Amino acid sequence: MVTVDFQNCFIFTLLCLFSLLCYSLFFKKPKDCFNLPPSPPSLPIIRHLHLILSALTHKSLQKLSTRYGPLLHIRIFSVPIILVSSASVAYEIFKSHDVNISSRGAAAIDESLLFGSYGIVNAPYGDYWKFMKKLIVTKLLRQQALDDSRGVRAEELHRFYGSILDKARKNETVEIAKEAMMLMNNILCRMVMGRCLSEVNGEAERVRGLVGESYGLTKKVFLAAILRRPLEKLRIPLFKTDIMDVSNRFNELLERLLVEHKEKLEEEHHSMDMMDVLLEAYGNESSEYKITRNQIKSFFVEFFVGGTDTSVQTTQWTMAEIINNPNVLERMREEIDYVVGKSRLIQETDITNLPYLQAVVKEGLRLHPPAPFVTRTFQERCEVKGFDIPEKTTLVVNAYAVMRDPYSWEDPNEFKPERFLGSSRSGEEEDEKEQALKYVPFGSGRRGCPGVNLAYIFVGTAIGVMVQCFDWRIKGDKVNMEETFRGMSLTMVHPLKCIPVP
Ligand code: HEM
Repeated sequence: MVTVDFQNCFIFTLLCLFSLLCYSLFFKKPKDCFNLPPSPPSLPIIRHLHLILSALTHKSLQKLSTRYGPLLHIRIFSVPIILVSSASVAYEIFKSHDVNISSRGAAAIDESLLFGSYGIVNAPYGDYWKFMKKLIVTKLLRQQALDDSRGVRAEELHRFYGSILDKARKNETVEIAKEAMMLMNNILCRMVMGRCLSEVNGEAERVRGLVGESYGLTKKVFLAAILRRPLEKLRIPLFKTDIMDVSNRFNELLERLLVEHKEKLEEEHHSMDMMDVLLEAYGNESSEYKITRNQIKSFFVEFFVGGTDTSVQTTQWTMAEIINNPNVLERMREEIDYVVGKSRLIQETDITNLPYLQAVVKEGLRLHPPAPFVTRTFQERCEVKGFDIPEKTTLVVNAYAVMRDPYSWEDPNEFKPERFLGSSRSGEEEDEKEQALKYVPFGSGRRGCPGVNLAYIFVGTAIGVMVQCFDWRIKGDKVNMEETFRGMSLTMVHPLKCIPVP
């Protein structure tokens, strides 16, 4: 007689159903009637996931494109991604499809303050994004607003100089990223909140720590967002615990800061900072767009994460290149001495008169873009270079590869700031656009980085002070330029440590 174990049978049926679901979500080949861009060979099941997980994702993907072409179609499990690695393809996409790629796609975890649904980074191209972008551009980063906050940056730059000078007098080592982080963080806090976070009660250290942790998480955030749709069906929120842990700690800190800020505002009148502007839009019924408290908090989180570490990494990489190229340091110092003189510290209004300093920073960003991937989503089906791109496909532009593309850059791996001096352009508008689109450390188009001007001020003044006032001693002959891809940020394996000599 056959006996049926109903419990085992039930488990077996469940397993079958689960496997079928997994198969259809991850392993089944999509029915494509599309003429998709070429897809390089991949591993079974995970497809190209191993390339994304590699410690040097930007290089693995660059290598892939060198071998198989600048416009590729790769997959993480069954989720398709269009990978762009050359200046000419990036140019065509940014030029002809800017509106179509003006959203980034789903957030990893909606309720997270970090790259969730409340923030500007993942906001679809719509009313909320337009409202926030307008606030950022007009109230914080417009030339007039930047002029108004210049005093704050000058004070912090003096503090930065004082801190390095103090170490120089004691013959102590300076960790460039640490000093730069303190500078950028203080400036951004004072610009957006009208105050410095306290070093005494550990507030500033907590924000710096959370920014660092957030950066460490960005690769997880990227994967969780990419795999969100298929995993949602299985009710698996990828990396939710890690992401929400950081988000909750940001939430606790920012909630307290918002309450304190509101109380201060009621007690005393001061000039409007960004927090006042956002609190007004939150409390005011007749505001053009009624934002929520979580949207305000998300704004601060994304501003700190987007604005500080990127500028810090750029400062560190550029300084490392300068130390490795003493002739560059000499030429920069000559320029600064000529324009600024020796009796005062360089200030941000000098930068427009220092073309070589600007060229050095640009070249640092070209070779070492701190955010080497620009990620968007094709909202609608379209055609690129004769290939079909289906709607809702993720686009990843490898800015690292674009800015080292040998067809667009002479000696692409060499540090040559001179390439940004003068202009070899023909003056044709179309030609200029193409030139601009091969240089993409800040992305491009309407979703390009709104902080470009501020970033050039941050990095230009920090580098300017370090070159103007100090010589730099390192262990050994050359700085070790080994790269690593931490989170989604391109950083140095060995953080730059050197001794300043006044
Ligand atoms: C060297 C410094 C910086 C680099 C390399 C950098 C790079 C980038 C890149 C590559 C993007 C994506 C652009 C795209 O999709 O086309 C971006 C977006 C963004 N950045 Fe920056 N950034 C820097 C500094 C800043 C600063 C100082 C701020 C703020 C004050 C800032 C705020 C933002 C914001 C809010 C976005 C999202 C824009 C949107 O989705 O509309 N960034 N940045």
